[in-house]
Parts: sequence; structure tokens; C-alpha cells
Amino acid sequence: MALLIRNGEIVNVGARLQADIFVENETIARIGNNLEAPPNTEIVDATGKLVFPGFIDPHVHIYLPFMATFAKDTHETGSIAALMGGTTTYIEMCCPNRIDDALEGYNLWKSKADGKSACDYAFHMSVTKFVKETESQLRQIVADGTASFKIFLAYKNFFGVDDAEMYQTLELAKRLGVIVTAHCENAELVARLQQKLLAESKTGPEWHEPSRPESVEAEGTGRFATFLENTGATGYVVHLSCEKALQAALGAKSRGVKISIESVLPHFMLDKSYAERPGVEGMKHVMSPPLRAKHNQVVLWDALAHGSIDTVGTDHCPFDTEQKLLGKDSFVNIPNGIPGIEDRVNLLYTYGVKRGRLDLDRFVDAASTRAAKLFGLFPRKGTIAVGSDADLIVYDTNYRGALSAKSQHTNNDYNGFEGMEIEGRPSVVTVRGKIQIRDGKFVGERGRGKLLKREPSHFE
Ligand code: URP
Ligand code: ZN
Ligand code: ZN
Repeated sequence: MALLIRNGEIVNVGARLQADIFVENETIARIGNNLEAPPNTEIVDATGKLVFPGFIDPHVHIYLPFMATFAKDTHETGSIAALMGGTTTYIEMCCPNRIDDALEGYNLWKSKADGKSACDYAFHMSVTKFVKETESQLRQIVADGTASFKIFLAYKNFFGVDDAEMYQTLELAKRLGVIVTAHCENAELVARLQQKLLAESKTGPEWHEPSRPESVEAEGTGRFATFLENTGATGYVVHLSCEKALQAALGAKSRGVKISIESVLPHFMLDKSYAERPGVEGMKHVMSPPLRAKHNQVVLWDALAHGSIDTVGTDHCPFDTEQKLLGKDSFVNIPNGIPGIEDRVNLLYTYGVKRGRLDLDRFVDAASTRAAKLFGLFPRKGTIAVGSDADLIVYDTNYRGALSAKSQHTNNDYNGFEGMEIEGRPSVVTVRGKIQIRDGKFVGERGRGKLLKREPSHFE
């Protein structure tokens, strides 16, 4: 059925206009004033509302075997949670570990999503070792439409790669025109510091941050950048958390290194005092890189406002209270991760745009357009334009509410942002022209989501 979104204020990066949007065959067919609608067209009145391009979360974990357990969401639950919060596309980290076969892992991750997701999705393919079959396997994966890789410099002996493997991955990525995303922490230093702290009987969640201090992340970020510089590959730092790491990345960028930066929702909204809360309350806020000293939040918001930080993801990674308690005797066993897929857009809008830290342009860019451009989805996604997929968010800026585990859709028994107030939420969310969300309710089609095929684009 055709769809007409009438009289909203369309917000694209660099352009705003009051207009109607007519959607046919899953894409935007016309934008203009007083558009005629054929009989049987579904009409949404967007008067007084903003209309955004569907938001893109460039960093989520849905299926994730990790730290002796599995993240809680499935694509059914994770995609509905994403849509509730205005995210119409997510990019999941496909994460086979070092002992798994990469191609088998890729097919397994695809099978977990196939026919299950209510929103569109893609993968970053993790390279967790580099052996003789790796190049041909990665070529097959890229030919299948997955045009971004992921490496972990942390998580020694599990996901982590050494410098030789990082070099080989970047060198291949350069030849294939593929962007490489990287978790930047020095694995050896983390392992040594963890052992030192445990030997001193420092076992609680408050010791997670001291085991992975800012300098350890800055070293990883700087080393990744140096490897990019010497291979000519294009890179993207995921979940950058602090000023020291930001300086390392921006220093490299100013020398001409092709590096982009993502920070994630928890690092803007929460500081390390959350992980210092006693017992399981602290454990709920353990992620890597850790929540940092508060002064870093000001630095991150400022860098985001100026575009030095390119994108905001979530690193959505739900482990429930029982799973977090796996680390009750030692912080090194607390499953790392904080969920956020449902809350990213509303928190960024409220604490960014409404609090005057972020203009609307940068908000749309950081939460949608920039990720679409970096990861080969633009202009299909990330903009409201004729010919683009009709992923549209009719946003109600008059909505007032508060976040709570009780009302969330992600499969978890806590919300890391519990009680935070929001000033705005999507009233209508469409995926390729079909209304999936209306005023906080899923009204759409489960399994509508498609795997997005992407072409390599980083040949420069
Ligand atoms: O703590 C985190 N970030 N958990 C998920 C795995 C990762 O490092 O992205
Ligand atoms: Zn990570
Ligand atoms: Zn992650």
C-alpha cells in the first residue's frame, strides 16, 4: 500500500523543509507540497512533528557468545527494541572467536537474523585470526555484500588479534576497498593489570576501569592509527571513550590517516561512578572500554558537536542480572556490555539537541547519515530523498517520559539508563514504507528486515 506522510518538517543533513513525502514500492517516490494521494493510500498527519531519515546504529551485538554466556537478545527482540527507538537499520558485529572457522561463523550469524529481524541489518565481519584460508574466506564474505571488517586489539586469546594479524587484515582491506572497524585497547596491558589487581584482592566491579585505564585505550587507538598510516587502509575506531584516545585518533587524522571515530551512548550518558556502585548495580555498568571519569563526557559531547566524533552507536550488548553475577567473585568474569539499542536516539535528542549540546544537523548526521556514508549504505539509507528507501521517523518532540526496564523491549531485566527522562520519541516508524511502530507500539510485520548488501567503497 502507498503511504503519504503529510506536512512534517523534514530534517536532512544540511536541509530542512516543510513538505509531504509520498512512498510507493518501498521507496520515496515524491517530496513536495500538497501531494495528491491515489485511493487506498495510508495517510500519516505529521503536522507539528519532525521527520528524520531512519536512524542507523553502526555497532550492536545481538547474537554473541562471549565470556562464558550469550547476549540475551534475538533478532526478534532486538529489532523491535531498535524500531521502538527509531533505529531502522543496525550493523551487527559478526564475532566468531579465534578457534571458530570464519566462514562458518559468518553463515551462522546470517542464519540467526534471516527472516527474524523486523528492521534492516548488515554485518561487520570480525577477523579474529589470520590463517592461510582467511584471505579467500574474506573475499567470499565481501562478495556476499559484507563490506566492512572488525578487529579487536583487546580480548586476548578470544577475539583479539596480534599486530601481525592486524597488519595482514588492513593490507587485505586496503586492496579490497573495505573499511576496518577496531576495538582499541592493549590486550597485554589489560591482562597484566587484571592479574595485578586480583593479586591485591581487588575483585569488585569498581576495579574494571583501573584494569583498562585511559592510557591503555590511547595506546590501542594510536597503534591502530599507525598501522592504518603504514598500510593506507581506512579505519574506524569503535566505542572511543576518553580524551586521551580522542587525541590519539585526531592526531593521526591531522597527519592524513584515514580514520573515523565512533563513540557509544553509555560513554556520553554515564561515568565510572555507575560501575563503582556496590555489587550487581556496579556490574550492570561494566563494559569495555570502561565508563570513564566524568570530565571525558564534556570532551565527547564537544567533539561530537564539531564532527570530530563521526557517529554515535550503542554497542548494545544485553546481559541480565544473573549473567552479570558470573563476575561476583572477580570483575574479570563480569560479562562486558550495556544494552541501549532502544534508547540511543531519544537520549541523544534529549541530552544532545534539547540541552543545546548538538544541533539537529549533527544529530541526524551522527545517528544516521554519516554511518550510511562510511558503511556503503548511502543514499539508499541515511537521507530522505527520492529513490531512497522509505525508512522514516515521524518524531514527536512533545512526548515526555522516562526510561525503565519495566517498559523496554530489549530482552533484559535492567536498563542501564533507568529513570532518565526523555523529551521526544518516534510516533511513527516505517521500514521501506511499512509502518512498523505507532506511538510506542509495534504494529508491523515481524521478519520484514532484509540483509543489506554493500559494495566496497574505500579505494582512495
Ligand atoms: O563491553 C562491551 N563493549 N561488550 C561487547 C563487546 C565489545 O567489546 O564490543
Ligand atoms: Zn568492543
Ligand atoms: Zn561491541
